[in-house]
Amino acid sequence: MTGLHNKSILLGVSGGIAAYKSAWLARLLIKAGAQVRVVMTQGASAFIQPLTFQAITGHPVHQQLLDTDAEAGMGHIELARWADAILIAPCSANLIARLAQGQANDLLTTLCLATQAPIYLAPAMNQQMWAHPATQANHQTLLSYGYQLLTPESGEQACGDIGPGRLPEPETLCAWLTQALDATQKSRLAQGLRFLITAGPTQEAIDPVRYLSNHSSGKMGYALAAAAASLGAEVDLVSGPVHLPAPAGVTRHSVTCAEEMLSTCQALQPHTQIFIACAAVADYRAAEVACHKMKKGQNEEPLTLTLVRNPDILATLAQDNPRLYCAGFAAETQQVETHAEQKLRRKGLQAIIANDVSDPQIGFGSEENQVTLLLKKGELTQTLTYPKMPKTQLSLVLIQQLLQHYQETFLHEQTPDQG
Ligand code: C5P
Repeated sequence: MTGLHNKSILLGVSGGIAAYKSAWLARLLIKAGAQVRVVMTQGASAFIQPLTFQAITGHPVHQQLLDTDAEAGMGHIELARWADAILIAPCSANLIARLAQGQANDLLTTLCLATQAPIYLAPAMNQQMWAHPATQANHQTLLSYGYQLLTPESGEQACGDIGPGRLPEPETLCAWLTQALDATQKSRLAQGLRFLITAGPTQEAIDPVRYLSNHSSGKMGYALAAAAASLGAEVDLVSGPVHLPAPAGVTRHSVTCAEEMLSTCQALQPHTQIFIACAAVADYRAAEVACHKMKKGQNEEPLTLTLVRNPDILATLAQDNPRLYCAGFAAETQQVETHAEQKLRRKGLQAIIANDVSDPQIGFGSEENQVTLLLKKGELTQTLTYPKMPKTQLSLVLIQQLLQHYQETFLHEQTPDQG
């Protein structure tokens, strides 16, 4: 379904010659499945008749703020709440200025203050008026308030001038709104969910100056954290030592060794719904960490270090909390899917992301990755293979797929008295 299907769109029309295009725009919005109500400013009715919009939408056009008949029907606050989005096209220089000042001196400006819906403006005016610093300052103010503005098109204007200020064609406006609403919907996909993601290597101390570690760059885990945050999730990123900035909207918890990573994850786990273990955790650590720098021996005698196994963070969390959706990674060099599936079952996971690390073009340190996602479906396993793509793009695809699987796995499992 497109972003406009079943959406309540309030179409605002202000006074400008481009108002003639708004009639066709209303028609296109309805054809795309939206319910449309039109609000006209006083200036708009000098260019186009309200009856035109009434005939197209099947609803009377709203024009007055202080209209007792209109308020007795759908009052202005009700109209502001009804809208899933407000689209104003054309949006005149005067209206831009009034909105930037937060005025509520007619119905349309009042609705813009009263609504919680996103507001989309398609400015259209003479190119000199658009270029004026006052209009540009108002434009910036509106952007800072969260309004979305479509840059006017450049070309020959009704007044004969040539330059930017033209209202884009109704088809372009309709596509813009569809895309914007789709993006808003997407940005709420993971709202209300908390992700816990591990990333990077761990460093296991041998003595105060030496450690055991690996080449993990942390890029994949950081990209997953950024993708989850971009879909509206709360994200805790438990990161080993890497040279990457924390992604916007993500809470980073910096750790050094596997045991520290485990205890940090265990503390965060009770608040988490989805756990993704992406860290390259060192499998072993020194049985004893020397208090002082270890000295070289006198001769060529080899040095023997005793190593002990590190805890498996992923398997531990999966075992401790059966309500936690757990996904891991499987870096394999042969029989990738077979080994990944065994790991999925052995560690008690819902999903595993497998990649072939024998291919030097993907994996550690690179910007791209090529993975196969295995999803546990009861006794069966669903396999999804993706082409090679940038880690940022792949992360978004993976997070969306995991979210869908999480919903199928846990939300449908609830007993009736759980809601
Ligand atoms: O067993 P293996 O190391 O191949 O498993 C890889 C997966 O398990 C990755 O998701 C990794 O983050 C996680 N893991 C972990 N703790 C360990 C070892 C691996 O969380 N000690």
